[in-house]
Amino acid sequence: MQAVKTKSHRELIDSRQPWQTMPGELFGRQDVFDTDVDVFFNKHWILVAVTADVPEAGDVYTVDIGKASILICRDDDEQIRAYRNSCRHRGARLKEPGKSTVGMLVCPYHQWTYDLNGVLKHTTHMGPDFDMGCRSLSAVHVRVVGDGLIFVCLAKEAPADFDFLANTMDERFAPYHLGKTKIAYETDVIENGNWKLVIENNRECYHCAGTHPELTTSFLAEDFGFCPDGLSEEGQKSLEAYNQKVAETVSGWEKDGLVWKAVEEVGAETASIFRTQRLVIAGCGESQTMDTKVECKRLLADFNRRDLGDVHLHTHSSWSHVMSDHAVISYLIPLGPDRTLVRTKWLVNEKAVEGVDYDLKRLVSVWTATNSQDAKLVEINHAGTQDPGYVPGTYSRYTEALLEAYANWYSARLAAHGV
Ligand code: FES
Ligand SMILES: [Fe+2]
Repeated sequence: MQAVKTKSHRELIDSRQPWQTMPGELFGRQDVFDTDVDVFFNKHWILVAVTADVPEAGDVYTVDIGKASILICRDDDEQIRAYRNSCRHRGARLKEPGKSTVGMLVCPYHQWTYDLNGVLKHTTHMGPDFDMGCRSLSAVHVRVVGDGLIFVCLAKEAPADFDFLANTMDERFAPYHLGKTKIAYETDVIENGNWKLVIENNRECYHCAGTHPELTTSFLAEDFGFCPDGLSEEGQKSLEAYNQKVAETVSGWEKDGLVWKAVEEVGAETASIFRTQRLVIAGCGESQTMDTKVECKRLLADFNRRDLGDVHLHTHSSWSHVMSDHAVISYLIPLGPDRTLVRTKWLVNEKAVEGVDYDLKRLVSVWTATNSQDAKLVEINHAGTQDPGYVPGTYSRYTEALLEAYANWYSARLAAHGV
């Protein structure tokens, strides 16, 4: 009997036809997963934290990504710094995952001590010839976007095109004062599926109408694409109402100088892909809540209106929604071929008081429900792609165009790194 030859990662990618889904092995295989982590999480800019994770000087937030661990610190000058979580003596982890507050970073093994600029300040028993000057913690590229979102890049040379994302979002997020927020709530959800399926699921709202009753209260379905052929009378009316609502809302925003147009930088030639737009919120138009009104009475900044829509930002591993009263920031961390951590943080004005300015349950109800619904969808999607009977299917050109773009980008970025 002839042995079945295992396809290479590249052969699997190249076997995908345009507008077709990926072959199942790209989701299920350990070697593919390991390469994915190396390329997409170790060599691209990734969102790993928010400034509210480290609100004060001396705060440290440790985030593990694959075998890497990163220390995100706020130094004594209030600057955000990021270092490899590996001691320059014999490599021990300096911190466990999670948050702490320190004066200095002291290695638990032999107590080598670093300041928050990563400089080695103190050792014992190393002798007079030992040069402390070249034993600083290894710095990691770090950028704070919109004063609130902390991105890092673990590569030696970080993709330079991140500037476009950072500059675009600095302008769009500036009015919200994300640097003056606090975390009202955060959750970690482990989804039983490959990270690419988590992103695929996030990049389309084809599934929303049938699965997200809470989220669709504030979404305008037409924003996420639709097939214009054969629209029912009801569908046609809904489209007309949509067009009218968007036209009225954006003209109001334009009068107030609020940028709303989409920037869609998702081409295969771009390393730091992203999409942003100020989306119209349905109903009362204020926030992604069950009644589409703001839940936090103390808004993120001194806005003179509450209906600022949803400034969303998607990157290759994150999605964020910023509204007048709160922001919901989500990013993923791949754990294994069939396991992905989705971490979500709800931000409110740092002066807002739970129970006075907002009810926590009401604040988080839409996205906690949505996240758990999406976790189930990703799980059934992943399981189905691993079925021996799975054959690649077809993306909708109207509602899943971002998935086709994403698959092409996935291929191009791996090729750029020799895969
Ligand atoms: S490994 Fe850190 S002090 Fe020895
Ligand atoms: Fe969803």
